[in-house]
Amino acid sequence: MKQTIVILYAVTACLLYFDYGNANDFPSLLVANASMAVIVDHEFLDTEYDHVLSKIKYLVDQIIRDDLRDGVGINVRYYSWTQIRFNKDFTIVMSVSNCKDTWQIFHEVQVETLLLIALTEANCPRLPSNEAIMIPLIKIGDELPQILLDIRSSQIVNWKSAIIVYDNTFDRDSLSKVVNSLSSLTQKSDATVMSISLFRIDENESNYRANVRKTLGSIASKNAEEKYFAIASKPHVIMEEAEKLGLTDSFSQWLFFLRKNTASKNGTLPIMKFIKEGGNIAIGINSTHTNTECLSGILCHFEQSFKILVEALSKTIKKEAAIYGQISDEEWEAIRLTKRERRDGMMKIIRDHFSHKQVCSNCIKWDFIATETWGASYIDSSPNKTLQISRAATWEPTNGVLENDSLFPHISHGFRGKTFSIATYHNPPWQIIQYGENGKVISTKGVVLQILDELSEKLNFTYLLIDPMRNKNSTVVEDYANYNDTDLIGSNIVPILLGAVAATVDENYSSIVNYTRPITIQTYSFLVSRPKELSRLYLFTAPFTIDTWVCLTLTVVIIGPILFGIHYMSPYNDYNNIIKKGGLYKIGNCFWYIYGALLQQGGMYLPSSDSGRLIVGTWWLGVLVVVTTYCGNLVAFLTFPKIENPIANLHQLLHTAHDVTWSIKSKTFFEYYIKNSENNKYKALNDGAMYTNNATGEIIQSVKMGKHIYIDWKTNLKFIMKNDYLETNRCELGIGEEEFVDEKIALILPLNSPYHKLFDRELYRLLQMGFIQKWISEYLPKKDKCWSTGKSQDIENHTVNLTDMQGCFLVLLTGTLIAVVIVVIEFLVARYGDTLKDKTITAFVK
Ligand SMILES: *[C@@H]1O[C@H](CO)[C@@H](O)[C@H](O)[C@H]1NC(C)=O
Ligand SMILES: *[C@@H]1O[C@H](CO)[C@@H](O)[C@H](O)[C@H]1NC(C)=O
Ligand SMILES: *[C@@H]1O[C@H](CO)[C@@H](O)[C@H](O)[C@H]1NC(C)=O
Ligand SMILES: *[C@@H]1O[C@H](CO)[C@@H](O)[C@H](O)[C@H]1NC(C)=O
Ligand SMILES: *[C@@H]1O[C@H](CO)[C@@H](O)[C@H](O)[C@H]1NC(C)=O
Ligand SMILES: *[C@@H]1O[C@H](CO)[C@@H](O)[C@H](O)[C@H]1NC(C)=O
Ligand SMILES: *[C@@H]1O[C@H](CO)[C@@H](O)[C@H](O)[C@H]1NC(C)=O
Ligand SMILES: *[C@@H]1O[C@H](CO)[C@@H](O)[C@H](O)[C@H]1NC(C)=O
Ligand SMILES: *[C@@H]1O[C@H](CO)[C@@H](O)[C@H](O)[C@H]1NC(C)=O
Ligand SMILES: *[C@@H]1O[C@H](CO)[C@@H](O)[C@H](O)[C@H]1NC(C)=O
Ligand SMILES: *[C@@H]1O[C@H](CO)[C@@H](O)[C@H](O)[C@H]1NC(C)=O
Repeated sequence: MKQTIVILYAVTACLLYFDYGNANDFPSLLVANASMAVIVDHEFLDTEYDHVLSKIKYLVDQIIRDDLRDGVGINVRYYSWTQIRFNKDFTIVMSVSNCKDTWQIFHEVQVETLLLIALTEANCPRLPSNEAIMIPLIKIGDELPQILLDIRSSQIVNWKSAIIVYDNTFDRDSLSKVVNSLSSLTQKSDATVMSISLFRIDENESNYRANVRKTLGSIASKNAEEKYFAIASKPHVIMEEAEKLGLTDSFSQWLFFLRKNTASKNGTLPIMKFIKEGGNIAIGINSTHTNTECLSGILCHFEQSFKILVEALSKTIKKEAAIYGQISDEEWEAIRLTKRERRDGMMKIIRDHFSHKQVCSNCIKWDFIATETWGASYIDSSPNKTLQISRAATWEPTNGVLENDSLFPHISHGFRGKTFSIATYHNPPWQIIQYGENGKVISTKGVVLQILDELSEKLNFTYLLIDPMRNKNSTVVEDYANYNDTDLIGSNIVPILLGAVAATVDENYSSIVNYTRPITIQTYSFLVSRPKELSRLYLFTAPFTIDTWVCLTLTVVIIGPILFGIHYMSPYNDYNNIIKKGGLYKIGNCFWYIYGALLQQGGMYLPSSDSGRLIVGTWWLGVLVVVTTYCGNLVAFLTFPKIENPIANLHQLLHTAHDVTWSIKSKTFFEYYIKNSENNKYKALNDGAMYTNNATGEIIQSVKMGKHIYIDWKTNLKFIMKNDYLETNRCELGIGEEEFVDEKIALILPLNSPYHKLFDRELYRLLQMGFIQKWISEYLPKKDKCWSTGKSQDIENHTVNLTDMQGCFLVLLTGTLIAVVIVVIEFLVARYGDTLKDKTITAFVK
């Protein structure tokens, strides 16, 4: 048992030792010579192989002899094939091979983190610049495919699809190489593969412009891809025509390749004249200069890079030696550079050198210019200062693309933090602006200003709110009703990017301003008095309709005599020798009996004959039904108060409500709409309407009384309702059910603004995400108890109150009054009308 533990322990220790050894067990350059593999691919060089190899050997020997100092040595091994497994003894690999094998060598080298300098054929995707150095061997004039490959793999341009516009100056061979560069899969997976469409401009000197127009026209008519490479002899013509066709809006991106630097002495290119506000135009300029001697070729590059490599190696060793001399071995082991650190250090030295000075292919160079167009003409009032140019990147065969700034700054950074004047004015709830002394804006709120904030954040600009009206007349304007939205932008000294106002989309002004996508649609409705409960005075009559009441009365009146007749005529009386006197033998008593039975009071007499009893019996039955129905209904009417019918729509207003007048807010879209409408309904509405600037107290008062109706935006009506509720704490106003005439509300843009689509897209985004809706509802009055339509209100816990009971008191009072009147009549008759005496008195007594 003990032995096994000891063995296990020993094994673990050994493993740990080897692990540790592996991690740091690479040759220190201080004690051993660096070993380097030089791969010269026989297959790649083919017939030149022997010549090149001997030259390379010669160069290596010479440089090692001349340049290497301080007792440092390099052991060089040569290979003529590429399938090599490098062991950890190697430090450096230099290769001359084709593209595919270069990448394979790279993968091998990665395993041991060796420094790789690869010379390879042109149009090879670059090895990752932080892992290896690759030098494609490029001939002057053939650099375009490599450039496109490089800007794609370095993600300076990462389009998914693109259109190449080219003309005859671009030959078929180069074209296919370019297309291949853009659409081939590279080893590096994060470079997007572009799908490419080609559009060729027919070469015809005399008719170049027309051909450009034709070609671009066919692009514009298709679903525009919006990403363009243009490689042509007269790019300014393409630019000019594209501008005319609207292919250079704020979404599209153009990368022009100028194969000749046609800049004039003062540095302006002909194309720049046509670059307008809002475009995303980048220009690659061929800055190759051929007046000096241009060295190139494998040997030149090999010599140059090997020289620098030796220099880098010397520097690294020197640095290490300096540190090593000062510390102990143990400490050295702890702090010495890792293999990767050493490699990266050397690579940095080599790269720095390349970026400053190159001997080979040093005349090939392309500059990439980014143009900053967005917002330029809105900042400065002078219209000729629209273009700011900055060198965004350079390309050289050895270094590839060196990026300084983004090629399309506006695509990545929007307006780049510029500050614009934005016009607005106080118009709650859309724009709520508080002005302090001197007309300074203190605080801003409101739906539109929230939208503006969101836009400014998304599109990366800041803004300065200006109130053009106020500028004209520095006194504080209170009556905003007379504001003219179009004045905001139309007649201003400062060019304004955007009018942050909620404006009605009005065709009349379409020649002065453009509108954005509508942010909301407002409808009109009308303010009515809140439907009131019907008076409860006649509640007791409510259970039956009038005809029921009439029938009932008639029945009572008719049944009395019928009962009398049958009772009187019945032979039963004679048979039993009953004296027909008093009781039901009087027609009046019959009537009162029937009436009493109806009210379930019974009577003193009952017919003794079966025929008479049948009448009474069926009457009781009828009474039972009538009374039960009445009682049941009465309870229902007590519990559910009846509400009067409010005016719910325009039709009712025009046709059924005769004693109602109406007014419409003037200077609204609605006024304009109905005045020009052919619709009979609106014509009638207009004919009877009064126009008012504001819902005055008088109007509201008459609305409350149910005599008037006020028409405005539903939103505004809600505010009126809310204010009234806050003032009176009663719900006396309501809003009609019908909504009519959609009024589009949008922000204002200057005519043909290049940012129309841009703002529209952002607004669409906000609309889709429901932000605008949410903001609007935040500024609208909150729901209160007046919002319910009132129909189902107060159902629960209705206790019968005096208003419910007033009807029965009324009946009682009426009865009493009639009784008094009749008593008086009876007195009068008793005194003066002896002749009538019998009839009158007996009719009412008994
Ligand atoms: C190191 O290089 C030098 C000069 O290149 C050479 O003389 C020496 O033999 C080499 N040492 C080893 C161990 O290879
Ligand atoms: C770049 O300019 C040089 C010198 O004017 C020219 O020789 C070369 O062909 C140009 N490159 C391309 C791709 O046109
Ligand atoms: C170039 O255009 C002119 C005028 O349209 C035409 O007469 C001529 O034939 C064209 N040349 C070629 C090569 O297409
Ligand atoms: C630069 O020179 C060209 C012609 O050489 C001229 O048309 C252009 O106006 C000049 N631009 C400036 C800014 O001077
Ligand atoms: C702009 O144009 C005006 C005349 O049109 C000229 O006087 C002014 O110098 C130009 N400004 C710049 C910056 O070029
Ligand atoms: C790099 O970009 C900055 C601004 O983005 C510019 O000022 C500078 O001149 C550019 N550098 C080169 C070498 O073009
Ligand atoms: C806004 O523009 C500035 C200036 O170019 C830039 O530094 C910043 O990163 C941009 N912000 C965003 C969110 O793009
Ligand atoms: C500016 O305001 C003053 C005072 O209210 C008024 O008399 C004047 O007419 C206004 N001017 C304009 C151009 O509106
Ligand atoms: C409103 O705009 C119209 C059209 O431009 C203009 O004629 C009118 O004077 C403006 N009204 C006011 C009150 O500014
Ligand atoms: C629009 O123009 C028409 C015809 O010129 C005019 O009748 C109407 O009043 C105008 N509408 C507005 C809102 O100014
Ligand atoms: C802007 O207004 C002009 C003039 O009415 C019109 O021709 C143009 O189509 C409008 N632009 C947009 C994007 O609606």
